[in-house]
Amino acid sequence: VIPVESVQELVKNHAHSHEAVPGRYIRSQEERPTTSSLLVSLQTAIPVIDMKKLSNLPGQDYQRQQEMVRLSMACQDWGFFQIVNHGIPHSLIDEIKGVAKEFFNLPLQEKQKYAPQEGDVQGYGKTFVVAEDQTLDWGDLLALALMPDSLKNLTLWPTVPTNFRDSVERYAIAVERVAQELLSLFAENLNLEATDYFKEKFGSEPMNLMRMNLYPPCPTPELVLGLSPHSDGGGLTLLLQDDETVGLHVRKDNQWIPVQPIPYGLVVNIGDLLEVMTNGRYKSVEHRAVTNAERARLSIALFYNSGMDAEVAPASKLVDEQHPCLYRKFKHEEYIRYYLKRQLKGKHPLADFA
Ligand code: SIN
Ligand code: FE2
Repeated sequence: VIPVESVQELVKNHAHSHEAVPGRYIRSQEERPTTSSLLVSLQTAIPVIDMKKLSNLPGQDYQRQQEMVRLSMACQDWGFFQIVNHGIPHSLIDEIKGVAKEFFNLPLQEKQKYAPQEGDVQGYGKTFVVAEDQTLDWGDLLALALMPDSLKNLTLWPTVPTNFRDSVERYAIAVERVAQELLSLFAENLNLEATDYFKEKFGSEPMNLMRMNLYPPCPTPELVLGLSPHSDGGGLTLLLQDDETVGLHVRKDNQWIPVQPIPYGLVVNIGDLLEVMTNGRYKSVEHRAVTNAERARLSIALFYNSGMDAEVAPASKLVDEQHPCLYRKFKHEEYIRYYLKRQLKGKHPLADFA
């Protein structure tokens, strides 16, 4: 991990100067979020899934069946969807956003108490800076391992604001419950023998992380990215984002589609491991974050992943003559090592795992 400056500080110190955006943040021509890439038809939007319709028992409920089909299409065609009526209390969502904003608003010195130790991906700072000449993302982040206990490092969990840790714990439990619900719906949709198929394959101790991203306003948003294009390396990601500010873009048919925030909704996306486990039926799709000149944007991602020791492989029920096995079996740990060595540069080529 190569230490880099805080973007929030950079903005603060150069608020009235033209040199606010150093060269290291400027993207190559192809990578810039040009206005044409933003002029996507307003009808094109990632699907919205109503979890309440899915909460009934499986059976003859027509509304549920319809929503299950929409969920299945979302996982296959988009790799992305938003959920509403997920049951996470609105007060808890307000609370987690509140403590995250309070943390990022602390003086730099205070935040740096949570800087990662050598080689660690947890803490306050940048995770994916692996080369001195790498173009930098216009954002600061705080990454925390939630489980297993052996990875959870409380010394990197802020104690200011005082309710920070408690809010993170309660929010994580609520989101993990939704993740498990989604995984059993996926298993049902894929006709896997048991609805707890993925739960079992993920292992008794999932390796879950939370990442809070703060993207300060940028004087030249057309030249930078908040977060480089990438696909998520894990199982399932559930993302909470600011209500007011569009920032997340999803790649679909070679276009970047902005994700319009739904108040109290969550964005869900399929990670690389689930693409492998479903033998490519469900897609782990490239996405990025852009910035804007007016205001900071906050997003909070919870990564629900297989345990470190879990064996990852296509479900045998999803391999047949029409669907040859696309990936070999590997340990989750092996994939993590591969993922962290690589800069965030688009969709992860799973070629080494074929
Ligand atoms: C992410 O990909 O982890 C976060 C993107 C965002 O901030 O919307
Ligand atoms: Fe992501």
